Amino acid sequence: MTGTNASDPAPSGPAPSGPVPSGPAPSGPAPSGPAPSGPVSPDGQESGDWYSNPSARDHRSVSAPVQVLDFHLRLPGYAPTPLRDCPELAAELGVGRVFVKEEAERFGLPAFKMVGASWAVCRALAATTSEPDRLWTFDELREQLDARVRLVCATDGNHGRAVAHTAALLGLQAQVFVPASIGQRAKDGIVSEGAQLCEVDAPYDDVVSQAAQAAAADPYALLVQDTAWPGYEQIPGWIVQGYSTIFREIDAQLHDAGAGGPDVVVTPCGVGSLIQATAAHYRGGDRGAEVSRPSLLSVEPEESACLLESLRAGHPVAVRTGYTRMAGLNCGIVSSIAWPVLQGGVDAAVTVTEDQDLQAVTELQRLGLDSGPCGAASLAGLRVAAGNAALRQAMDICASSVVVLLSTESLAANPVT
Ligand SMILES: Cc1ncc(COP(=O)(O)O)c(C=O)c1O
Repeated sequence: MTGTNASDPAPSGPAPSGPVPSGPAPSGPAPSGPAPSGPVSPDGQESGDWYSNPSARDHRSVSAPVQVLDFHLRLPGYAPTPLRDCPELAAELGVGRVFVKEEAERFGLPAFKMVGASWAVCRALAATTSEPDRLWTFDELREQLDARVRLVCATDGNHGRAVAHTAALLGLQAQVFVPASIGQRAKDGIVSEGAQLCEVDAPYDDVVSQAAQAAAADPYALLVQDTAWPGYEQIPGWIVQGYSTIFREIDAQLHDAGAGGPDVVVTPCGVGSLIQATAAHYRGGDRGAEVSRPSLLSVEPEESACLLESLRAGHPVAVRTGYTRMAGLNCGIVSSIAWPVLQGGVDAAVTVTEDQDLQAVTELQRLGLDSGPCGAASLAGLRVAAGNAALRQAMDICASSVVVLLSTESLAANPVT
């Protein structure tokens, strides 16, 4: 295998310089006001911090290939993460059952991101071999690789650690760009994987641009970014496919628990790649008529609600990001490939405050669950939605609902300070 860069494995062309919003400039204020032609809140009012789309459950999307789970099953250290039954939360929220998918430990890392990074890197490197469609194992790929190849990405913590870990498994180098403001624990985690850490004194979206530029300048660099923009879509698409393993596991675990549904699935949202995977799975055109088509709820920090603002505007807009302890959700631009899926397939979007999130972290801890601030945002968001009569109705939240909360990181990934 010869040297590779972002343009080699990804036939979509050379790496551009970074995400490009199609709305106002990234530094501009978030637009507000009702979407002129898009869905509006059920009472016809835009309340400012939530949104709903009454036709989302009719949306159809393309689900991930079944080989993704096969690939993860063969990756050393694979084990399904637990799906915890939480009757106390069900009682509090007035629903049938609440399950928490606890991504506190995935392939030895404290967040869900390895399922995306590992599959995307495997596909990208396979594309440079004579058998691009073969389901290579990492052991086989390692034999093929030019050791000069290095993986490059930007991150606000978890994705970068997963890319660094993937590089280490393959015997490759990694260069990880981070906003200087992220927590020390997240930085230490990336360094512990043997990666070169590049701190940038800028918000996440600008750091993504810097990583893309660095990768474009090096013929041996492979940009592994978990957000897409026009011209850079294939690798983020593979990352989203990789997340499908989480939902395949949930299907089996709900079945084993004797639960129907799910009826409601709650996903914390940064750039929207994870909730794109949620929608791809539950809105998949190949999903049989006998299985449920749940309501999908997105949860963002009120300081960085790029999806909510885009949904309200009816087109992608960039928002100015501020401080939030939900570091992985601190993103100002929705992934370009996520946008059409989310605009069509997400039933509702809410924001949560720092206090609401902290209460959720504490409550989950009390129940014996290990959820960092991003992971606990799901519970905080469900509380907001379940406490809002119009949203309860829009999402069909009722006394028999089976709810799944995605808890995407452990507290160790992003400790509360
Ligand atoms: C712990 C955690 N949860 C959720 C997310 C959100 O994922 P996405 O940016 O794909 O929306 C991230 C992203 O970094 C994350 O680190």
